[in-house]
Amino acid sequence: MKLVVTRAVERRSLGVPADWDVTMWPESTAMPDDRLRHEAADADAILTVLTDRVDAGLLAGSPRLRAVSQVAVGVDNVDLAACTGRGIPVGHTPDVLTETTADTAWALLAAAVRRIPEGRDHVLAGEWGPWRPDLLLGGDLHGSTLGVVGLGRIGAAVARRAAGFSMRVVYWSRHRKPHLEAELRCSFRSFQQLLSESDHVVVTIPLTEDTHHLFGAAALAAMRPGAVLVNVSRGAVVDTSALVDALVSGRLGAAALDVTEPEPLPGDHPLLSFPNCLVIPHLGSASHRTRTAMLERAVENLVCALEGRPMVSCANPEVYTSGAAGGQPAG
Ligand code: GLV
Repeated sequence: MKLVVTRAVERRSLGVPADWDVTMWPESTAMPDDRLRHEAADADAILTVLTDRVDAGLLAGSPRLRAVSQVAVGVDNVDLAACTGRGIPVGHTPDVLTETTADTAWALLAAAVRRIPEGRDHVLAGEWGPWRPDLLLGGDLHGSTLGVVGLGRIGAAVARRAAGFSMRVVYWSRHRKPHLEAELRCSFRSFQQLLSESDHVVVTIPLTEDTHHLFGAAALAAMRPGAVLVNVSRGAVVDTSALVDALVSGRLGAAALDVTEPEPLPGDHPLLSFPNCLVIPHLGSASHRTRTAMLERAVENLVCALEGRPMVSCANPEVYTSGAAGGQPAG
């Protein structure tokens, strides 16, 4: 059984059966794409992260592949349809990272609304003078309207936290979620309504062809003047150059981004020149406990697939009804 692991993980913490032949990229950097393709050529399974490209070409060159297991909830880097066509289940790690990612979204939101990074910059620059009544005045969380874009697990966890800040919550999702509306005390809005009503918008919607650049120039212009935009989904849900323009125009109050397009963002990127644009390096799920739980779930998914059982968390569950699960071509 050959397993390719694209990032350095301690073999002990990986916890796969001792007789599996594990090929692991030893560096702290990413396994190069050509190396992944080379190693996957005779592999039974691969353990991937969100920057690894698993496309039809990789699958075509990996005839033995029976499982892809990603240590992330988002799988936009994996060609799910091609995997399903080959009968390959794709594992991912929802649930275990929901609360940590919602915490990160709130940390970004609170920091941006209350201008915490600018306050820190001010102190570090040695500019802290006598107390001033007009220094770095920002917005409020309490009493404001929060717009949640995407009411999946993470969006719901973000909305749930808003009650503690006495906020009104509106949401837009591809599908209305009446069962969550009462529990979370949130109301459905069209995308346009949400943009025009929300003081702060948190983006949690997955990246798909439909959501690519959902926040382009038109959507950003439709936000309330001074609104704060937080993105913890994928960078490409927001059009970076339109966001730069919105920040230049001064119309947007602030942006706080866990994810960007491109990623990593070069140190001299225009987004980094705005004091009211807070960027962190894709840390949404980065707590000790959650990253451990994600790895455990990813390994559990792998073991299930290789032992012929359904994965605990499968991103293409249709693979189990297409009659092809197990790595054989469908149809
Ligand atoms: C992180 O971005 C994830 O998809 O888990």
